[in-house]
Amino acid sequence: MTCLDDILADIDAEPIQPEPAGQHPGRAWKRLASDLPPAVRRMLETIRIPGLRLAALRRAERYVLSGSVREDLDAARYRALWRSAWSNRNAETTRAIRLAIDQTLKDVHIARMVEHEAPYCVPTEVRTARVRDGKLTVEDPPSAKPSFGVRSYPERTPPEVVTVAARTWRSRVRHPRPPLAWDLTAGSGTVQDVLRCNGGRVVSTDLTNNGNGVAKLDARNLGCCPGHGQPVQTGHFEGLVVQHPDMVFLDPPSRGVPTMAELDRSDDADRDLASLDRNVYIEIVATIVSKSVERLAAGGLVSLLVREGVRNHQHITQDSGVADAIMGALAAGIQVVGHHEVVYAHAANQVSVGSARCPMVHLLLGRRATCR
Ligand SMILES: C[S@@+](CC[C@H](N)C(=O)[O-])C[C@H]1O[C@@H](n2cnc3c(N)ncnc32)[C@H](O)[C@@H]1O
Repeated sequence: MTCLDDILADIDAEPIQPEPAGQHPGRAWKRLASDLPPAVRRMLETIRIPGLRLAALRRAERYVLSGSVREDLDAARYRALWRSAWSNRNAETTRAIRLAIDQTLKDVHIARMVEHEAPYCVPTEVRTARVRDGKLTVEDPPSAKPSFGVRSYPERTPPEVVTVAARTWRSRVRHPRPPLAWDLTAGSGTVQDVLRCNGGRVVSTDLTNNGNGVAKLDARNLGCCPGHGQPVQTGHFEGLVVQHPDMVFLDPPSRGVPTMAELDRSDDADRDLASLDRNVYIEIVATIVSKSVERLAAGGLVSLLVREGVRNHQHITQDSGVADAIMGALAAGIQVVGHHEVVYAHAANQVSVGSARCPMVHLLLGRRATCR
């Protein structure tokens, strides 16, 4: 069984090869499915297209059977490997299969966007996300749908939050065009996936680097990377450069364990915001927001998702008041443009947190207009 950092590293690895020509995917699936533990088979069968289901199985084999594929093994050995993975590391195996499903569907979704060269539409339920009476209701998509970001990533940002933030920004600028943004806690890349659908472009950074076009940067050092306009010392930088973003997204982890840096076995575990004491956390998040607001383009907005709780794996202790405390610690001249309570109608399993979620408050913050 590979561990989580191997799995995450694998996301950027070689794409899964299609089935050999002449293989009928439906029949190939039937043959392979009988060798899988029933629960694994049921999870993969949430993908309705047999060819895609096979691609997800290939990926799952890579994660769970450490790269061995059915063709390399005799049937009895293949069955035994799956049985032992399922019985020894049930929860880990479930996560790995879910990740395999997510990555496969996401690849298809992104390929479709590239192939048609026109922005692919965000699904209706995300596009029409609305704040009603100050409340934004979100949910994880069923596993058969393409996922924005990786559904099983710990505390993935709800895509509805990104939609609402982008819509608010559009309503503030006189000549709207697709936004140029920074995502300082990009994780599995939800923000870039959503904004890209509307032609937006994002410089995505995170403390842990798990592929998906996300560069490594501690959010405290915002502005200090080539994507944020810092001059490069040697050579030249070919990625997207945004000096003054229209939007900055910040979705800090809730405090508690395990931290993403820990899961990722990163050397920067002590810099993970999740491991800070309450007061330090509040002060640091407020500083990151204040510095972000300074860098915004005219009319720009910072989208801050505050997770008001302390996490101990699947247990959450509510800690209301964190959002208010962060607002109280912001630099002068910052205006609260939006304040929404975010609630889950349905939550899927995410690594280390299961379906437990911290209560969340979404804040939209901008520069206060100055009178001349
Ligand atoms: C709530 S998750 C964000 C999820 C992400 N937006 C997504 O949809 O996948 C919090 C993220 O903050 C990152 N993080 C923690 N401390 C950080 C720091 N000091 N600088 C930048 N990112 C940090 C974690 O690695 C994790 O990816």
